[in-house]
Amino acid sequence: MNVTVNVNGKPYTRDVEPRTLLVHFLREDLLLTGTHVGCDTSQCGACTVHIDGEAVKSCTVLAVQADGMDVKTIEGLGTPGELHPLQTGFWEKHGLQCGFCTPGMIMASAELLKHNANPSEEEIRYHLEGNYCRCTGYHNIVKAVQHAAEIMAGGAEQGGQAADD
Ligand code: FES
Ligand code: FES
Repeated sequence: MNVTVNVNGKPYTRDVEPRTLLVHFLREDLLLTGTHVGCDTSQCGACTVHIDGEAVKSCTVLAVQADGMDVKTIEGLGTPGELHPLQTGFWEKHGLQCGFCTPGMIMASAELLKHNANPSEEEIRYHLEGNYCRCTGYHNIVKAVQHAAEIMAGGAEQGGQAADD
């Protein structure tokens, strides 16, 4: 069946099987492979995207359910020349190692900062409970989100080389 999903500001119409998951629609039909699949149990959060502005695990949604909706993926957040503050934060604070979880972490964190511009460490950890990282131990992910909050509040510079903590 035909679905039209607005992804990163552009409408895409594709003929999909009704059982197609949104994450597979994004990765295989639209070749937006920044959204990852890290589990088959809807637990890891690597597939997190925004649907109509809210963070959602895209492995829990059928592509047909997203028909007519606005989806934002990691590819729609920043550009190599103009990183989103969260991308800068993960860069500056070494919030990633293999990077597999990073797109989902960033999309979930973006939703947090939208609703809470200055989250505490506890609030960041609580909000990211549904996102698993196998590499970093989470400490630098928390610092990355705090750094992004500072940038967005105008209190830290964006971009540049990775800095020591
Ligand atoms: S792939 Fe969606 S939660 Fe793991
Ligand atoms: S950086 Fe490797 S899974 Fe998080």
